[in-house]
Parts: sequence; structure tokens; C-alpha cells
Amino acid sequence: MIVKTKHMSSKLVFLKEFIRNPRMVGSIVPTSRVAIRALLDPVDWRAARCAVEYGPGTGVFTQAILRRLGPDGRLIAIDTNATFIALLREQIADERLICVEGSATDVEAIVAAHGFTAADYVVSGLPFSTLPRSVADAIMDATARVIAPGGAFLVYQYSLFVLPLLKRRFARVGKGVVMRCVPPARLFWARKAA
Ligand SMILES: C[S@@+](CC[C@H](N)C(=O)[O-])C[C@H]1O[C@@H](n2cnc3c(N)ncnc32)[C@H](O)[C@@H]1O
Repeated sequence: MIVKTKHMSSKLVFLKEFIRNPRMVGSIVPTSRVAIRALLDPVDWRAARCAVEYGPGTGVFTQAILRRLGPDGRLIAIDTNATFIALLREQIADERLICVEGSATDVEAIVAAHGFTAADYVVSGLPFSTLPRSVADAIMDATARVIAPGGAFLVYQYSLFVLPLLKRRFARVGKGVVMRCVPPARLFWARKAA
């Protein structure tokens, strides 16, 4: 994997895209390293064949997932923002990464189009609380269907907004909080029954 990260310029792109579309981007800075590790570490990434990331933005989670994924795994990163998708394609040269400009609402069709019947893990950076409620519900429903039995939906947020949405659709929902970032990050691991 060759990662060519221009850290400052990625942060500026992020801020610029937030100013252009605050409700879709939902945050002025990318997620901190400590929150990324806390969300990803409880999962066995080496065993995953198909992982999906919603809302990769400038790719801070994307790179961390690729470092954990095995050689035969694939990561499908889906973002509605064309600037972010172009940045990922330019900065991350890794044949396991598939960048898709599209919406998480279409995850089932996107996963199928890349030859998979289900996803082992889905990681979400979507700002659920600022998305239209119908979009948030459609993404939750599609995600609950696309995850393989025994798989999980990993979500990070800055509020507890998603907790009831997850509990309604998943057998078990674990939660955590990372205080060492501003604002504190809420983490959720929603598991599908095996
Ligand atoms: C808070 S940013 C997260 C960026 C990055 N994952 C991070 O942790 O720094 C939210 C991202 O979700 C994307 N997004 C918003 N609605 C989306 C949707 N329906 N489907 C896919 N991506 C979406 C935005 O374009 C943005 O890149």
C-alpha cells in the first residue's frame, strides 16, 4: 500500500467541503487517531473479505482500515462528495480499495456490483443527526440487510442520536466514548446475530 498523505492540505479540503455543505459533512475536522483506534481495534479485520466505509471524507479511517485488512480483503468506500472521492483516488494507491461516488442508501447495489453478497463490516462516519430523517432510516435499513450474519456495523458520532436507530435493527449494540478528543466521540458496535 502506498499512502501519499498531504496532511495539511487534506485538512483544508475537509474544512472547505464543510463550509460548502455543513449538513452532509457534519464536522469541521477529520476524526482523531485515538477515536479511530478505539472504534476499529475490537474487530478481526484480517478475517474480513468485504468491508464497507460510509463517508470516508479525506480518508483517515480508510487508511487505518487498509492497514488492518488482510491481503484478500476489499474495502468499498462510499461518499456522496465528488471532491473527497477524487482525493482518495489520488492519495491512496491500494488495489484493495474501491472508491465509489454514491450514497450509502445504495449500499446493497454497490456491494453486489463489486461481486459480494454481503459485507462483513460496515464503518460509518456519516453525520446521522444532520441528515434528513428519511435518508438516515433508509441507510440504517439497507445496512442491516447488507451485513453478513455475525458481522457488525461500527459507527462514530458526536451524540447518542443513532443509538435507538441501531437498537431497533441489530441484535446487540455495544457503546463507548472517547474523551481524549474534542468533542468527545461516541462509538457504537452493532452486531448482527450469527
Ligand atoms: C463527518 S464526515 C466524516 C469524514 C471521515 N470519515 C472522518 O472521520 O474524518 C461525513 C462524511 O459523510 C459523507 N456523506 C454524507 N452523506 C452521505 C451519504 N448519504 N452517503 C455517503 N456519504 C455521505 C460526507 O460527504 C462526508 O465525507
